[in-house]
This record gives sequence, structure tokens and C-alpha cells, in this order.
Amino acid sequence: MKKIIVAIDGLSSCGKSTMAKQLAKQVGYIYVDTGAMYRAVGLFGLQNGIISKNSIDENLLSQKISAIKIYFKNIDGIQHTFLNDVDIESQIRTLEVGDAASRVSTIGFVRRALVAQQQAMGAEKGIVMDGRDIGTVVFPAAELKIFVTASAQVRAQRRYDELLQKGEHSDFAEVLKNITERDKRDSSRAESPLRQATDAILLDNSNLTKEEQIELVKKWFKEKI
Ligand code: DC
Repeated sequence: MKKIIVAIDGLSSCGKSTMAKQLAKQVGYIYVDTGAMYRAVGLFGLQNGIISKNSIDENLLSQKISAIKIYFKNIDGIQHTFLNDVDIESQIRTLEVGDAASRVSTIGFVRRALVAQQQAMGAEKGIVMDGRDIGTVVFPAAELKIFVTASAQVRAQRRYDELLQKGEHSDFAEVLKNITERDKRDSSRAESPLRQATDAILLDNSNLTKEEQIELVKKWFKEKI
């Protein structure tokens, strides 16, 4: 059977990772969470004094970027992100790291380094990759492109519930503010801003259950293969 590339892009917390993961598992494809890669660089910056509240030492980051090694490993059915051989999965889903990721993702040399790695990961096809620029920059020729969206309120509620489930108590207003700020930064940056590719299918999942959503996506996938 023909192997394809599935590119899933969308705003923060729109459920694209859950959907991408489910699809990859059900069709036996590799799943790559590119947001986790930007989060790994964000965490690296926070840990190494490169990112502070108001500034990023781009010079230092550019010297270190080639020494940042990111990969994924499946542990008991769950994909874990590794940064320089350390499992950082439990550290990268916080609001602080999300914010750092959003800030480093505006830097051209960071994007170029990560895009090159992502393209290498998809060279053999048979991959579901999610992010912000997968259908526009990383794989502009991907056979199936989906652009996922949902209202900011719905997305903030999902992120709030997710954090709560992990035992992280947050303030809903703070989560909503974090999401709208990231939306703005992700969509307005000069380097590869979040855009719907002209040939992407638009999926607004504000009023869809996870089951309805995956059925739709599987239908589109079958049409392409
Ligand atoms: O999807 P996420 O929330 O884990 O992504 C974290 C940040 O990384 C987000 O603010 C935007 C950025 N990002 C990006 O610029 N390009 C990607 N392909 C993936 C994520």
C-alpha cells in the first residue's frame, strides 16, 4: 500500500496531537510531535541561562544549537521526548516551557535546524507529523494536510483540564491568556507564521467528540492512500 505523509497544523491546544497520535497508531505510521521539539529547545534555553523573563541570548543559543540532540522513544506505549539523552517528557508540558518554546520558535536558525531534522524523519514517508508549519514549510508536498482549529475558550478549557489531570493547578484566566498570546505570536511572527496551506482541509473541532474527529480523519486518510 502507498505510504504517505500526513501534515497536521493548527493553533495551540486544538487537539491536533491527540488526533495525530491516534491516527498514527491506527494506521501503523510514525508520529512526530514537532511542538515537543520546540519545547525541548525552550527547556534547554531555560536550563542554560539563555532565556530569561524578558530576553533571549540568541548569540549563545546559536553557538549551542548544534549540540542540542532531540529524539523520541516509545516507553510503554507513550512517546517520550529526549533532550541530550535525558527523558524530558514530564518537564515540557508546563505553561513556562510552552511560552519559552513559542519564543524560540520565532528565531530563524532554530526553525532551520529543527525543520531539517523533521524532513529527515519523514524521508521514508509513513509519518504523521503535527505542528504549525508542516503543510507549508516542512512538507509542502504532503499528500494529506489538515488544519485544525477550535475557539480559544474551548482550547483553554482543554489545556486547563489537561494540566489539572497532571496535578498542576492553574488559573483558567491565566491559561486563556497564555493561549491567546501564543496564538498571536505563532500567527504573526516573520519566520514561518502559522498559516493554513491552500491545499489543507480545514477541521474545526469545537463541537466534535474525539471519536467523531478520528473517524473523519481516517476517512480522509483512506481517500488519499
Ligand atoms: O504544539 P505546542 O504547543 O507543543 O508547540 C509549542 C510551541 O512551538 C508553539 O508556541 C509554537 C511552536 N511550534 C512552531 O513554531 N512550529 C511547529 N512546527 C511546532 C510548534
